[in-house]
Amino acid sequence: SDADNGTKPTSGPPPPPPLPTVEGLAGIEDLNPDPTILEVNLVARANTVPLFPGDETRLLNYNDSLPGPLLHARVGDRIIVHFRNEMNESTVVHWHGLRISDKMDGSPMIQNPVLPGETFTYDFVVPDAGTYWYHTHLHQIQQFEYGLYGGIVVHEKEAPAFTAERIFVGDDMRINSANQIAPFLTSGPDIGRGRIGNTLLVNGKVISGEGGEPVTFTIPRGSVERWRFVLATNALSYDLQIRGAEARVIATDGGLLPQPFPLDRVEIAPGQRFEFEVRPLPDADEVALEALILVLDENDNVVEMPFELARGTVEGEIEEAPAPEYPVVELPSTKVDAVTHSWALSGGVVDNEVQFTINGKAAFVGDTHEHVLIETFEPNVPVKIRLSSNVSPAHPFHIHGQFFQIIARNGQPVFEPGLRDTVYVRGAETATILSYFENPGRWMVHCHISEHSEKGMMADIQVG
Ligand code: C2O
Ligand code: CU
Repeated sequence: SDADNGTKPTSGPPPPPPLPTVEGLAGIEDLNPDPTILEVNLVARANTVPLFPGDETRLLNYNDSLPGPLLHARVGDRIIVHFRNEMNESTVVHWHGLRISDKMDGSPMIQNPVLPGETFTYDFVVPDAGTYWYHTHLHQIQQFEYGLYGGIVVHEKEAPAFTAERIFVGDDMRINSANQIAPFLTSGPDIGRGRIGNTLLVNGKVISGEGGEPVTFTIPRGSVERWRFVLATNALSYDLQIRGAEARVIATDGGLLPQPFPLDRVEIAPGQRFEFEVRPLPDADEVALEALILVLDENDNVVEMPFELARGTVEGEIEEAPAPEYPVVELPSTKVDAVTHSWALSGGVVDNEVQFTINGKAAFVGDTHEHVLIETFEPNVPVKIRLSSNVSPAHPFHIHGQFFQIIARNGQPVFEPGLRDTVYVRGAETATILSYFENPGRWMVHCHISEHSEKGMMADIQVG
């Protein structure tokens, strides 16, 4: 008994150890003393940010921060978000990748949009460890470009130990000469392939162009770090690589992989996440996270350019960190008999208006936010879905509330391991995914490029 050492008997399990620190995004005050509950106030409102010398840029942000603050919890924790809309337009918040209840998912078909001045309390338990993010899901072409997104980290119950953990959120914005978000075009390539920015940002810092500098930090020799990357661009995909380190891919959208693999370069599409284990090379002076990005040169040729997103200066030395111990992860087998469904992703001009469609339906009707229900699935019955596109723009296709694995492209098996919630359909090709539909509810499925989803490539499915 504890009676003789003076401590009061306590009930319940011992408190969990503190969460590892994650560097890179603004923090948020936890209003709840219970270590298993993260309770926060989140406000969406107009904000100005000094992105460049001269005039500040007018944005819309969560808690006046670009990106919004990091929501940080442990798997199984409850998150309560008291959300207030202080903008002069309606909005909803979506928790991208979290397999929570559809009532809390930010679907405008289920949750009434939060009107200007109104509040909504999101309340859910985080079911899976991994790197996630949150963003607006209404008037998304504008609100998302204006900066309404933030990061989420959910740690494993027994999180592997690293020297340090960092999160990087990549974005692109189109900024005019007055340092403001450039006007939105309603035709041409901005609609066809989706609006692409002229300014690259990481964690809200401009990293491209004149005066742009990567996010910087120091990293002692001998470290092993965990880097999480979220791609919050609208339409740009990146090929990520890490220079000056031995790096491995350890996690995808849905958390840790059963088997990490060496990072050479890995393609990330809008909406997706990757995590890397990073160990500076013994003779490196710096470790850099780079993105190879297809951009137009002055002759309008598509060229691949490297951009430095983040740079760690190797400073000092610590005793060689032991290899992190990863929990055993088992993924459902991809060798199952599963029925194949087909979703055709397409686009065209109807009545002089560009429309994007799923199975021939422009499933989302402009400002009314009516999503057409395109399919109903049995819960827990694996299904293969062939996402085929006959048109050139790429579609990072996202299914809410579920995980899947990417098993083939154009009928050929591929090595794209790990649980995903977003698959990149790169122009005219077919990607086959195996989805498990473990989470009942009514779920949005859509292209993550805002112009595509808001012009029709967004629908609902029903699970159960
Ligand atoms: Cu990241 Cu439906 O969205
Ligand atoms: Cu698309």
